[in-house]
Amino acid sequence: MNLFRLVCRHKTALVIGSVCIFAIVLLFLAKCTSETLKQAHPGPPGLAPRANVLQSRIEQQNPPATAKDSAFLVVLITTGPKYTERRSIIRSTWLAKRDSDVLAMFVVGTQGLSGEDLQNLNTEQGRHKDLLLLPDLRDSYENLTLKLIHMYSWLDQNVDFKFVLKADDDTFARLDMLKEELKKKEPSRLYWGFFSGRGRVKTAGKWRESSWELCDYYLPYALGGGYILSADLVHYVHLNAPYFKIWQSEDVSLGAWLAPVDVHRTHDPRFDTEYKSRGCNNKYLVTHKQSLEDMLEKHQTLQREGRLCKEEVKLVYCLFEV
Ligand SMILES: *[C@@H]1O[C@H](CO)[C@@H](O)[C@H](O)[C@H]1NC(C)=O
Repeated sequence: MNLFRLVCRHKTALVIGSVCIFAIVLLFLAKCTSETLKQAHPGPPGLAPRANVLQSRIEQQNPPATAKDSAFLVVLITTGPKYTERRSIIRSTWLAKRDSDVLAMFVVGTQGLSGEDLQNLNTEQGRHKDLLLLPDLRDSYENLTLKLIHMYSWLDQNVDFKFVLKADDDTFARLDMLKEELKKKEPSRLYWGFFSGRGRVKTAGKWRESSWELCDYYLPYALGGGYILSADLVHYVHLNAPYFKIWQSEDVSLGAWLAPVDVHRTHDPRFDTEYKSRGCNNKYLVTHKQSLEDMLEKHQTLQREGRLCKEEVKLVYCLFEV
């Protein structure tokens, strides 16, 4: 009874109070929802509007690829801003004697870089004109999958090409042999590399996948140290990027994105791209996890076989004093 009388006496105050509490709860809920939405879509949905900005900025930073944006084979090498020496070695070894229909670019994200790093990259770009700088991407290990999307989107829009070799900056590739084989292949739906599909999903360590929910194993994917895609698949990745889920590993992600696509998944042990190199073999098209010394040595072997001129090797050795 007491309570009832109390309620009657403070009717207005109570109504105002309830409205206030209701409003606060509503505001709180609205805020939570918008944050969850933001968290749930860290990458691709933002990509669609961002892609245009990215595009125009890239066009400013990267003069359009020479050879009138056309190449039989494009080589995209993912590398970090500071790995100038790795890039130098690659330029003077396996990229040195490439044909004019091979276009090679080193891909670097430049968002948030210090003035000094930017300056160094600009100098390098001025000298070699082979950097694909992505101003909307912070270069970090966590962002490798986004980097893949950005670089394939750029490639699809800016270069008329048949195939792309994706490589890392510790990859050594035999472009002459790759080209020879590619000439014999259908230039469509090709996904060619060393495939793995047995790996159990990593739950700890560097390659941890926290959001892989498809099953206990990965879907078959070509290991990321080096694989070939035909241009139509690059186009597919560019078109569908806004819908893709971004997993931690870029190669695992690509395997999943291409899982439902009718592709020629071509497993080839001549892509030596497992977590550890299987050693030296003249038949390998691509080898991975190479130290700079390994690269120079491979280069020297090729040279001994008479496939490269001496001066070039000497130059490499002078530059790096190995
Ligand atoms: C990934 O890149 C985006 C865009 O540049 C950036 O905002 C984000 O901080 C990066 N993430 C990491 C972990 O570096």
